[in-house]
Amino acid sequence: MSKKRVSRRQFLSYSLMGVGGFMASAMLMPMVRFAVDPVLQHGGAGDYTATKQKADELTETPVRVDFTIVDREDGWYKSDESYTAWVYKDGDTIIALSPVCKHLGCTVNWGGDENHPNQFFCPCHAGRYEKNGMNVAGTPPIGPLDEFDVMVQDGLVYLGTTKPNTLV
Ligand code: FES
Repeated sequence: MSKKRVSRRQFLSYSLMGVGGFMASAMLMPMVRFAVDPVLQHGGAGDYTATKQKADELTETPVRVDFTIVDREDGWYKSDESYTAWVYKDGDTIIALSPVCKHLGCTVNWGGDENHPNQFFCPCHAGRYEKNGMNVAGTPPIGPLDEFDVMVQDGLVYLGTTKPNTLV
C-alpha cells in the first residue's frame, strides 16, 4: 500500500489557494448580495391597499374602483402604480375582478357592449366575460378574468394581489 505524500510546495500552494479563496469570497459576498437583494425580497406580496370605495355602497352592479400602490418596489426602483378593479357584491361577498383582458391585455368595461349589457366587454377584439369573470365561448379571450384578494377595514374596500379566478 503506497502512501501519497504531499510535498512542502504542494502544501504551501493548497494553503494559499484556501486562504485566497476565503478572502475572495469574503470580498465578493457583499457584492453578490447587493446585486440579487431585490430579487430575494418578498415585495409585499399579500399586502392590501386601501381604496376610496365604501363597502356598504357596493351593489350587485360592478363599479370601477381605481387605486394606487404608493412606493411600490420593483428591483431598486420605487414608484407609485395605478390599478383598476371591477368591484361588486354577490350576497355578502365582495368580488373584485381585474380589468385586464385575457386575450391581449386590453382593459374590459362593464356593460360596454349594448347588445350584452350584463357582461364585461373588451373593445379591442369584442371579447366578452360573464359577471363572474368567465370568458364567453366564441369570443377571443382564452380564460377568465383574474380576481383580487379583498378585505374590508373601517368600512373601506382594500384590495390585495390578483390571483386566478376562483368563481368559475
Ligand atoms: S384584447 Fe381583449 S379581446 Fe383582444
